[in-house]
Amino acid sequence: MIIAIDGPAGSGKSSTAREVAKRTDSLYIDTGAMYRAVALFCLRKGIDTSQPDFDTYLNGLSISLKSSESGIAVWLNGEDVSDEIRSSTVSELSSIVSSDVRVRVKMVDMQREMASEALSRGGSVVMEGRDIGSVVFPDAEFKFFLIADPKVRAERRALQMEEKGVPVDSRALLDEILARDARDESRSTSPLIRASDAIAIDTSSLSFEEQVENILSVIHGNG
Ligand code: DC
Repeated sequence: MIIAIDGPAGSGKSSTAREVAKRTDSLYIDTGAMYRAVALFCLRKGIDTSQPDFDTYLNGLSISLKSSESGIAVWLNGEDVSDEIRSSTVSELSSIVSSDVRVRVKMVDMQREMASEALSRGGSVVMEGRDIGSVVFPDAEFKFFLIADPKVRAERRALQMEEKGVPVDSRALLDEILARDARDESRSTSPLIRASDAIAIDTSSLSFEEQVENILSVIHGNG
């Protein structure tokens, strides 16, 4: 069984997807983390997607996701980069590199491979991102599209950052979220879009538990 959870930044999809995976005993795949790892790779190498030899760089890129106590650890070419990929610089750049077709093809291939490995062992998968229900697994058994008011999303991000001791400028965060939405929604390849058969859930006024319960009730046939 594949459960696709898509939505914009701050819609609550990561924490919800992680919990749904835990409660359904599924493999959790955070595809945003993969695009973030590509962005960090570019940042470290000082390259961008317009580089003539970008393909060669991309061939030398390896990403793996491993289960960890906090949910998922992201490894880039043999190094744990789970914390580094969460910086604002990487957030911004991930939304830019993810519009490159070559990057998307490579990530989508990896995502399908990770899922099919889990399915072949008889497991289930919860995959979260922007294009899971629309492109990566259009035939997923369950598809959800989480949305929330941009102001609520910015507040949630601010809270997460404050908890980590990172100073925040709420106005700048809101601008960053709106800019990322615009870029993710307007790119020509796999834009952020709700698949026509995905169930939309507005999480603006839902508690975390309610978001999780909403999804689980659909999966268990009570939704
Ligand atoms: O979910 P996130 O904020 O960690 O994602 C980081 C960026 O990656 C986001 O701006 C858009 C991109 N992304 C994407 O294009 N497709 C996905 N399936 C997941 C993320």
